[in-house]
Amino acid sequence: MDAIKTDISHAYKTQKMRIILKETRFFLAIMIILFTMYIVFKMHQKTILKGKIMVLQNTTTSLFEKYRPRNLRGIVGQTAAVDKVSTILEKGWGGRAFWISGASGIGKTSLARIIAEEGATDWFVEEYDSGGDFDAAAVEDISKGMYYTAAGKGGRAYIINEAHGLRQWIIQRLLGLLERIPRHVVFIFTTTKAGEKGLFDGQIDAGPLLSRCICIELDDSQEFTKRIASHCRKIAKKEQLDGRAPAEYVELANRYKNNCRAMLQAIETGEML
Ligand SMILES: Nc1ncnc2c1ncn2[C@@H]1O[C@H](COP(=O)(O)OP(=O)(O)O)[C@@H](O)[C@H]1O
Ligand SMILES: [Mg+2]
Repeated sequence: MDAIKTDISHAYKTQKMRIILKETRFFLAIMIILFTMYIVFKMHQKTILKGKIMVLQNTTTSLFEKYRPRNLRGIVGQTAAVDKVSTILEKGWGGRAFWISGASGIGKTSLARIIAEEGATDWFVEEYDSGGDFDAAAVEDISKGMYYTAAGKGGRAYIINEAHGLRQWIIQRLLGLLERIPRHVVFIFTTTKAGEKGLFDGQIDAGPLLSRCICIELDDSQEFTKRIASHCRKIAKKEQLDGRAPAEYVELANRYKNNCRAMLQAIETGEML
């Protein structure tokens, strides 16, 4: 009787072992497949991503987007602003608001995006094209979401372009948010000088807003004209759209009031051939 019991228990154990072995093999196979897929992706990551970027560039990118600076070194002719931003970023990224002002097309939005990407992964950079779009719903969204750290680099950045379009009551609500910016959050406002003047001279008292921000003014002096003219000439040459003397690029810069976006659009349409 005992022998039969031992046999049954042995058979039961063997069967159990077989099932466990089978499950383990299945699990291992899945792991190996996933691991192989990961290795293959890693090996070809650059090509895959580059492929995507190339497709985007080939289909949608204008010259000025193609040559938008991706890091501080790429910002031409704004040494003072770039130095100021570098010094601030060395001390830490978050818990701040920046106010970037300057003429149109001289690098405000580019600089804002570079600052944002220092601490926030793309997905967590929210950009509003104009202060006028920045409404009650946007403030509500931000005040709900900004206290949670984000995936990736951890930070969240909010860029509000053309901030001179902000309405008085929105500014009032923003002041509350800017009072207690978490360490993983950055706000960046950009505005043209003329727009900013409107804020100051108009009925809106922008003082309380600006006093909560680090102000960065971009340069559009003659020095910038020289630098941006030479930068645009280099791009024109690279794109085989250049047929003019260097001095004509300075004239181009003057004609477009140093607006690099407008200059590159002119080059793209063959104005410098
Ligand atoms: N300082 C700069 N250095 C290099 N490129 C610039 C600079 N300023 C503007 N550009 C070019 O012009 C385009 C528009 O710049 P942007 O930063 O959007 O200007 P803004 O916000 O001041 O109107 C950029 O994509 C880039 O190609
Ligand atoms: Mg802009």
